[in-house]
Amino acid sequence: MPDPESTLLDSWHHNAQAWIDAIRTGSIESRLKVTDQAILLAVLGRQPERVLDLGCGEGWLLRALTERGIDAVGVDGDATLVQAARAAGTAPVHLASHEQLAEAKVDIGRDYNLICANFALLHQDIIPLLTAMNSLLAPGGALLIQTLHPWTAAAGDYQDGWREETFAGFRGQWQPMPWYFRTLSSWLNALDMAGFALAGLQEPQHPQSPVPQSLLLVAEPRL
Ligand SMILES: C[S@@+](CC[C@H](N)C(=O)[O-])C[C@H]1O[C@@H](n2cnc3c(N)ncnc32)[C@H](O)[C@@H]1O
Repeated sequence: MPDPESTLLDSWHHNAQAWIDAIRTGSIESRLKVTDQAILLAVLGRQPERVLDLGCGEGWLLRALTERGIDAVGVDGDATLVQAARAAGTAPVHLASHEQLAEAKVDIGRDYNLICANFALLHQDIIPLLTAMNSLLAPGGALLIQTLHPWTAAAGDYQDGWREETFAGFRGQWQPMPWYFRTLSSWLNALDMAGFALAGLQEPQHPQSPVPQSLLLVAEPRL
């Protein structure tokens, strides 16, 4: 059976152009209505000088931050997405997989006031990556994670495990993506194991929706 961790990044190599089109045509309603603004406000609320966007994709958040005078740096594991992010903005964007970052094999800079991961932590073994990110934070820095809300994404099966996103309803040719579902306590345990303490939690929600669109976690290195 293929390893879901490698199938996951492979799916992004396959889906990169369709993803760029989906983001740049504004075709993901939850992003337009709720989650883009939620992460942007959470970043701005901490008034960071220097931000790392981990798993930056085609770079929309990098552009939103540089437009506001923030020194933003991106990193992503897919070359097409990295190229698109570089071409559309001014932020430096590194090409590195989460696995390479976990082993500190690529230098992506350090002393970040904020490291954010917007729907970008999709693999199972996130603790080594989060531990590596912890060491790149400046004093007083924090980690910001926006992810699918575990209670709405659970679909009646509230336990950690691999799931599959088929991108049904998205336009274009998509390869299914394995992603690792984790419960709320599993997220908190992973942060703890990586040396972080939870500093804040939000459940961004549209006023006309009965369920939250995402979970937003703010974590700070434990002293
Ligand atoms: C759902 S997209 C989110 C992109 C961006 N953060 C945004 O908000 O549009 C997930 C991103 O994670 C990246 N990614 C997934 N697995 C990765 C891995 N193992 N190493 C590096 N990047 C990875 C993908 O290339 C993709 O850009």
